[in-house]
Amino acid sequence: MGRIKPCRLIRLEQHVDPRGTLSVVESGTTTDFAIQRVYYMYGQPESSPPRGMHGHRTLEQVVIAAHGGFSVGLDDGFHRTAYRLDEPGVGLYIGPMVWRVLQDFAPASVALVLASRHYEESDYYRDYDAFLRDARSLP
Ligand code: TYD
Repeated sequence: MGRIKPCRLIRLEQHVDPRGTLSVVESGTTTDFAIQRVYYMYGQPESSPPRGMHGHRTLEQVVIAAHGGFSVGLDDGFHRTAYRLDEPGVGLYIGPMVWRVLQDFAPASVALVLASRHYEESDYYRDYDAFLRDARSLP
């Protein structure tokens, strides 16, 4: 019931030396899916409205706070949970049929997203009621 269960934090490979830290994401190794798209969000104004506020029919993603931090609220129509992402060495896996809201961005945050598919507007639920209706009738 609901698709929130597979959503989880993933600790990324990190190489630390006196020069700083190098983090690695390998498509199909760090992520269970092949990465077909990378996008990133930055330049949020102070007290900006939330981002996201949508669900996906099939898309899988890993969200990383590459700089700064922000909260990610998840909702599968039955359960809700929230994560604070503020470590560049940690990613949040979000699977299909989960409504997500990104908010409370610290100044100068960069939200890096690794995605399993190219951009397809038809994969989105932008309407929460339509999302709820379908999410609650999943087998
Ligand atoms: P939008 O989906 O509104 O962002 P959010 O993740 O906060 O809901 O995307 C903003 C704009 O960028 C919108 O016009 C769609 C476009 N866009 C692309 O063209 N390609 C992409 O891969 C993404 C994620 C968005």
